[in-house]
Amino acid sequence: MKIAVAGTGYVGLVAGVCFAEIGHDVVCVDIDGAKVKKMKQGISPIHEEGLEELMKKNYAEGRVDYTTDYKTAYRDADAVFIGVGTPERPDGSADLAHIATVARQIAESIEKDCLVVVKSTVPVGTNDKVEQFIRDFLKNGVKFEVASNPEFLAQGTAVKDTLQAARIIIGTESKWAEELLIKIYEPFNIPIVSVSRRSAEMIKYASNDFLALKISYMNDIANLCELVGADIQDVAKGMSYDERIGAKFLNAGIGYGGSCFPKDTKALEYLAKQHGYELRTVKAAIDVNTAQKTMLYKKASRRLITFSGLKVAVLGLTFKPGTDDLREAPSLDNIPLLLEHGADIIAYDPVGSDHFAKLYPEGKNLNGTIKYVNCPLETLKDANVCFVFTEWSEVRSVKPADYKRLMRTPLVYDGRNIHTLTAMKEAGVEYHSIGR
Ligand code: UDX
Repeated sequence: MKIAVAGTGYVGLVAGVCFAEIGHDVVCVDIDGAKVKKMKQGISPIHEEGLEELMKKNYAEGRVDYTTDYKTAYRDADAVFIGVGTPERPDGSADLAHIATVARQIAESIEKDCLVVVKSTVPVGTNDKVEQFIRDFLKNGVKFEVASNPEFLAQGTAVKDTLQAARIIIGTESKWAEELLIKIYEPFNIPIVSVSRRSAEMIKYASNDFLALKISYMNDIANLCELVGADIQDVAKGMSYDERIGAKFLNAGIGYGGSCFPKDTKALEYLAKQHGYELRTVKAAIDVNTAQKTMLYKKASRRLITFSGLKVAVLGLTFKPGTDDLREAPSLDNIPLLLEHGADIIAYDPVGSDHFAKLYPEGKNLNGTIKYVNCPLETLKDANVCFVFTEWSEVRSVKPADYKRLMRTPLVYDGRNIHTLTAMKEAGVEYHSIGR
């Protein structure tokens, strides 16, 4: 099958390369010429395990190519997958400008029957609008339809999540579209759930928001655990044996971040509001998460009175390990607060420091200073306090004795519960974590 993919971010690039890997003839389209040139050399614009290997292999074997020339790419494609971003607007709604641009380009380019597949996360009903939009701008009298095919990959495990997905959701409004999508996905050998377009769109939000809710619920319970003297990790373990609850996404912490959960919870709440409905559960998840992100900062502020002139070690900047993505990362809520209050920050992240330094360059910043180092232990030297924001393996490998040995005062606020209370106590570290 000849497949074109619009957008080479997490959704588009990974889908395109995986389609090539299972044997389709793929061309990935992006407006950024420099990015396209790099991708042809096998250099991925995103940090994702196993992706560059697949890019190089499939490019060398002629199954995937990259271009800015959308007209040629779309002209004779059997299917065009849209994987461009749908960023969050200030009011929580999804910005569909990129989708509209691509839809118009498709309408003006296709010269044979073509299935347009929306992979980007879009509010329920958007696919209907995209179909109408393409119809309005269609240049040649070819047959087309819009289908929904939401993406469930997580950053850091994107390739594995795509090649070995738990399920593939397809939302179509005709047998023609359904059969074509099944034909595209059959080689993956993964269960395919075929539903209507609107249900497919909703499955994506309902799944992501359910997981966000699960995390916020655990964070809420964690905060209560602290007040009543229970341990959230023991509580989670006890809960996990119940198959109805499951063992995954029970980790309490410093709040969920990333490009999906924060955006998708707000977008669904907004969609409900538009329809005169208040989605109270999702709203609660959002509220808990907002408070959770600065929970440790507030605790530390009470303990230390002021951060002014204090040396603050920060371990981890990205929203989770395995990615260089900073979107909605707890570090972005906490570091400006620390800097405003005069902290001198020494930060470590194995891949996220360069991105972070673009927002907060080394040197004087707000009322404090910030410096980036390449080793987690280096942050600790003479530090008055340490914050753990991301549970990278390099961060996990810092031993309780290292905090005691290297810090001026061994005071640690851990947003990821990476150490046991006993080990930290035995090492003589004052340790504050989540829900324990
Ligand atoms: C998520 C979904 O998992 C994926 O299916 C969807 O397509 C996109 O959104 P992603 O944002 O890449 O993927 O990361 P994920 O691993 O789900 O983590 C999201 C956030 O939740 C992170 O900030 C993580 O630290 C946090 N989290 C996750 C917890 O706080 N506790 C947990 O138990 C699990």
